Amino acid sequence: MIVTIDGVAASGKSSVSSGVARALGVPYVSSGLLYRAATLLAHEAGLSPHDPALVPHLEAQPLRFEPLAGGNRLWLGTRELTADVQSAAVDAGVSAVAARPELRAWVDRRLRALTPPFVAEGRDMGTAVFPHAQAKFYLTASARVRAGRRAAERPEAVDEIEAALILRDERDRAQSVPAPEAHVIDTGPLSLQGVIDTILAALPQ
Ligand code: CDP
Repeated sequence: MIVTIDGVAASGKSSVSSGVARALGVPYVSSGLLYRAATLLAHEAGLSPHDPALVPHLEAQPLRFEPLAGGNRLWLGTRELTADVQSAAVDAGVSAVAARPELRAWVDRRLRALTPPFVAEGRDMGTAVFPHAQAKFYLTASARVRAGRRAAERPEAVDEIEAALILRDERDRAQSVPAPEAHVIDTGPLSLQGVIDTILAALPQ
């Protein structure tokens, strides 16, 4: 079984996906981490998102992606990248990388090589990558609520985070459309456990 959980930036996708995956006893897969890894490695190599050398550069890296139920980890050889990709610099650059079709194809290849069952989270898991998933969800919340949540994870001030989230929503619009059959959940009034329980209750038995 594949369950997809898509949604806007900082809508709680990772925490919710982890909770749902743990309840089901399966891993969850954070597709955003792969876009973030591509962005960090492009910066470090001095390559722009448009550079035709970027995908070959990524293919040549010893990048390892560990999708576990409790959290997803990224490694470059023995160097762990998991925390490095969660920075304001990567936040600011990632949408330009994600807009490139060859980068989307690079991420999609890695995702489709994984063996189900799993919970997949991102922007286009239920539409482009796993259109035959058994259950699809799309998380939303106001920019203010999302910024307040992310402020607990980042050093920047909440107003700055909110402005960056609004900009990223705008840039991600093309790749972040709910599947017509997705259950859309406004997470604003719900606790983390409330969102997880809503999803678990809607899953096919
Ligand atoms: O956690 P947050 O929503 O802030 O971001 P993320 O899920 O780690 O995704 C980071 C970025 O990757 C997004 O802003 C998109 O530009 C891109 N992304 C995408 O285009 N498609 C996906 N399936 C997942 C992420």
